[in-house]
Amino acid sequence: MDPNIIREEEIEQLLAGLLDLYGYDFTNYARASLRRRINRIMIVDKLPSFAELFYKIKSDPAYLKHFVAEVTVNVTEMFRDPQVYATIRREVLPVLATYPFIRIWHAGCATGEEVYSMAILLEESGLLHKSLLYATDLNHNMVEQVRSGIFPMRHMKQYSENYIAAGGKQDFSQYYTAKYDRAVFSSTLRKKLIVATHNLVSDSSFNEFQMIFCRNVLIYFDKTLQEKVLQLLDNSLEQRGFLVLGTKENLRFSAIAPGYLPLAPKDKIWRKRQ
Ligand SMILES: C[S@@+](CC[C@H](N)C(=O)[O-])C[C@H]1O[C@@H](n2cnc3c(N)ncnc32)[C@H](O)[C@@H]1O
Repeated sequence: MDPNIIREEEIEQLLAGLLDLYGYDFTNYARASLRRRINRIMIVDKLPSFAELFYKIKSDPAYLKHFVAEVTVNVTEMFRDPQVYATIRREVLPVLATYPFIRIWHAGCATGEEVYSMAILLEESGLLHKSLLYATDLNHNMVEQVRSGIFPMRHMKQYSENYIAAGGKQDFSQYYTAKYDRAVFSSTLRKKLIVATHNLVSDSSFNEFQMIFCRNVLIYFDKTLQEKVLQLLDNSLEQRGFLVLGTKENLRFSAIAPGYLPLAPKDKIWRKRQ
């Protein structure tokens, strides 16, 4: 694959267009990965030139949706990094149990596998009845998928192994009903979810939470945007609340860092100071 199909000034033109026309601001996304994604879209969609790509984005709303979905990376899984969930089960849930009501936000939730994982942990700790799990993503298609609670059956073996590695003791299959090639997750989990589109770049804080997950999202942003989003997460987290980032992410270099204590440095879980 030629890594330089799209030129730097064309990327600038595209980003300016997406912002002006639709309000999508990708200008502070890490440039190298953005370039790779755009190049890939052009190859897969057999677009011979930048002009063709730009024309389709401007003139075809369905293509715009497709482009946004493809330019952002949506890879996720249930109990991703199982040890993180084992730590949450052991060290965070006993604290959350002392609260009368628990609000948790999954920011950049993709298709929602993380949110269902957390709902399962809360259910097993007897806390789901007093919890609300907010799940948001920039991408409208993702949000619909989260609401449905339907995931490919072929992933269940891996998810079941992750669940056990995260300390799960039940039969994982009790949480879903198999329907042909799909696993439909139980309405007990689904009814505690509030799912919406939310853009971390341009939307503001909308509630105060006791716990926020924003995993594997900041890695796609440059330093300036990472800082802006960390400020937004900080504004949305209660004192003594828990912040969970992805295993390759950190708040060490952020202005919010002094306000946080590492709870489990390897698992990238912090607790906000009083
Ligand atoms: C790699 S996925 C991470 C999913 C999940 N958090 C996990 O760790 O498994 C990154 C997600 O961030 C979302 N995203 C990218 N930019 C965003 C933005 N500005 N606001 C909200 N979500 C965004 C993408 O749509 C994608 O679903």
